[in-house]
Amino acid sequence: MTTVYEGAFAKLNLTLDVLGKRDDGYHDIKSVMQAISLRDDVQIDIDTGKPWVLECTDPAVPCDETNLAWKAAKVFLDATSKTVDGLRIHITKRIPMQAGLGGGSADAAAVLRGLNKHFGSPLSILALAEVGASVGSDVPFCVLCGTAVAEGRGERLRKLPDMPDCVFVICKPDFSVSTPELYRKIDEVAIAKRPDHQAMETALVTGDLGAVAENLCNVFDPVVTSEHLELNYIKSIFNSYGSVGQQMTGSGSAVFAILPNFEYAAVVCNMLRDNYPQVYIAKPV
Ligand code: C5P
Repeated sequence: MTTVYEGAFAKLNLTLDVLGKRDDGYHDIKSVMQAISLRDDVQIDIDTGKPWVLECTDPAVPCDETNLAWKAAKVFLDATSKTVDGLRIHITKRIPMQAGLGGGSADAAAVLRGLNKHFGSPLSILALAEVGASVGSDVPFCVLCGTAVAEGRGERLRKLPDMPDCVFVICKPDFSVSTPELYRKIDEVAIAKRPDHQAMETALVTGDLGAVAENLCNVFDPVVTSEHLELNYIKSIFNSYGSVGQQMTGSGSAVFAILPNFEYAAVVCNMLRDNYPQVYIAKPV
């Protein structure tokens, strides 16, 4: 038996635009995504000689073949024609679920990276990301990590310069949002403000944190905020304690703030922790 360990990093959507509905039921999107240090830990035991098993420290996570990490293992073995004599995947969960942070996708990506490493890298990172697309729309980015722009369903990726040095505070309120429902809703509303991707790319190329913050834009944010005004409360706390920009990530319900340093981030966390147990500090990775 061999054991491989991989970090599974959460993602934030610095921008997210929904461009239109496709024939396959998905939507074409364009999004600048950022990997962050908030992570799950994935341990993969290969050739256990026993039936496949998936375990997770969070009892709310499904531990069967519906789990994206399990699907990722299957898809990897199919794509590479490799075989294993039993597999055990153990996930130490820290990324909150149904938050728009890509937790399930991050676990799947970690399994892809771990198995690829074990078999001597038969797939390049970009080929591995492509394999991940059939597991979930955010998996390709979670394979790549760093800062990148994602297009198509999320599978067409282009690396961007690293995010300028900063600290994120992420707050996950109690409520959750159904991603498919939100995509249905967005088809019915007129999108008032869309991201300026050129401006965001320029901000990243020039390393201008203020301009990155100014160009945060997620078309889902106003849709969810209009039904959950609580998000405005969290953003107002962010704003009052030194945030240079704040926004919901993905289809929510987590919101994040960009802070210039840990001192500011710690103060924001303290201000939120009484009302929100799920508050996290993270760095771009
Ligand atoms: O691919 P993933 O499982 O993350 O998608 C969850 C759901 O979100 C899809 O079933 C679809 O309804 C919606 N979705 C979409 N267009 C995307 C990504 C997700 O419509 N680009």
